[in-house]
Amino acid sequence: MHETEGTNMSEEKHAWWKEVVCYQVYPQSFQDSNSDGIGDLRGMTERLPYLAKLGIDVIWLSPVYLSPMDDNGYDIADYRVIDPQYGNLEDFDKMLETAHGLGIKVIMDLVANHTSDEHWWFKESRKSRDNPYRDYYVWKDGKVAEDGTKLPPNNWESTFSGSAWQYDELTDQWYLHCFSVKQPDLNWESPSVRQEVCDLMSWWCDRGVDGFRFDVISMISKDQRFPDGKPKKNGFGEYGPYVTNGPRVHEFVQEMNEKVLSRYDIMTVGEAQGVTLEEARKYANAEGTELDMIFQFEHVSAWKTTAGAYIGKWGVNKPQMPKVRALLNKWQLGLEGYSWNSLFWNNHDQPRAVSRFGNDSPEWREVSAKMLACCLHLMKGTPYILQGEELGMTNMHFTSLDQCRDVEELGIYRQAVEEQGICTHEQMLAAFDNVARDNCRTPMQWDDSAFAGFSDAEPWIDVNPNYQEINAASQVDDPDSVFSFYRRLIELRHSMPIIVYGTYQPLLEDSEAIWAYRRELDGQAITVACNWTSETVDCDLWDERPGTPLVGNYPQHLPGKLQPYEAYVTLG
Ligand code: GLC
Ligand code: CA
Repeated sequence: MHETEGTNMSEEKHAWWKEVVCYQVYPQSFQDSNSDGIGDLRGMTERLPYLAKLGIDVIWLSPVYLSPMDDNGYDIADYRVIDPQYGNLEDFDKMLETAHGLGIKVIMDLVANHTSDEHWWFKESRKSRDNPYRDYYVWKDGKVAEDGTKLPPNNWESTFSGSAWQYDELTDQWYLHCFSVKQPDLNWESPSVRQEVCDLMSWWCDRGVDGFRFDVISMISKDQRFPDGKPKKNGFGEYGPYVTNGPRVHEFVQEMNEKVLSRYDIMTVGEAQGVTLEEARKYANAEGTELDMIFQFEHVSAWKTTAGAYIGKWGVNKPQMPKVRALLNKWQLGLEGYSWNSLFWNNHDQPRAVSRFGNDSPEWREVSAKMLACCLHLMKGTPYILQGEELGMTNMHFTSLDQCRDVEELGIYRQAVEEQGICTHEQMLAAFDNVARDNCRTPMQWDDSAFAGFSDAEPWIDVNPNYQEINAASQVDDPDSVFSFYRRLIELRHSMPIIVYGTYQPLLEDSEAIWAYRRELDGQAITVACNWTSETVDCDLWDERPGTPLVGNYPQHLPGKLQPYEAYVTLG
């Protein structure tokens, strides 16, 4: 079904990137080939047949560029060099060629809101106030307290805790870093910066890559007044309104589109924290002057500030289905006719889906993982799978801080537990269990051998101890496995235009337990109902119109009921 635009099956314009299923590879943790405990490109290449078997069409490859790895590669020191821990450009080309040979496209993760402080642009930039690279980054004079103490230009807090400004003695100015101190923000006001980004994107497109996932694209245009933000309970201020969806963001994205993106047949998806429907309709406008689609985050962050959150996202809150449903329904309906949706439950920044939204106890793990997959994959949009999600991999249970690797976790721990006493060690570990990014960064569970078949050596981060029960080897040939269920959903999407292009209508919107919807296209309809609870519930959706069963996660559907975590789908 990979024809491009032009058929008349519905009003929705056809495009190949609307018809695909995308799989995120987090390279550190996918497959190690040289026994150093770190995943690499050769290892990834060996595992591509597994992805072909699953049936995915596109890989989103998390960063593999040269990096000091302060934020696992989201801190780039050279955009045209592969980090030696992953291999080299030859290994990259081989991986790309192998993927293409299997019919799989590869999109790169483009992190251009900031670079590493070890990028030579930054090394130059910090040398003097009149260095030609000075304006590649955001340098500002600080303030001075009454007692003479030097203070940052404003109160913004970095995403990874602490001030978003770092003082540099050499030139007596501060540089902005919305993320770690080793991730200085690029200054997109500079035309040279924008040209550099265009040049490096063209360089990768010419090498054969099939598109980009744009890291924090909604943050590239800053309010040039740099005002103080709304105070938080830890004394810092929110940068949000002055950094996200800033004054020139659409102009900058359009420039990239005009100069590069529109010149290649590629797929683009932008990570857009804090995006509203109105903004999303611009980023992913149907005229195609910006990006193909964006990731919005409302359904994975709505409960941040409710009771149970100590600070920011850190807490023990669990999402409530009706809230999650209301948010995704809003996006499904709100973008209809304007923009294309992306669909995801998790990525490398989120906890594992089955632990967060489903039930990862042995009794319900598989069935709830399948239910979540069904609920998401039959919506309208391009689905994204994070490596291991197709196996029902779960959160890690963190018992000590030594197990944590993530700069975000270490930062919040230092600040909230050690410096400010906002919560206790135990509370923070409980919050880590719930939301830490390392939950989904543990090695891919390939089989039940030592280190889960990921490596012969001690991995850079612990393998989840449940790898003996949960691994690919035990699932790929089992028709009832979570893997086979994902495979089936992908096959259905490939063979049924209604799943790609059909309209989406929410059903049973008052139900506390059931998430249901109907898709329609050209007189055809499918009805999807998912029970998000561990109880059997009544469901009268099919009383008048039984339809033909299309897919489900129970061997037997009981009329008028949905069993615990049952997903049931009919056609007609
Ligand atoms: C994005 C990435 C995340 C990273 C951050 C800074 O949110 O997904 O992993 O830490 O940007 O680059
Ligand atoms: Ca390796």
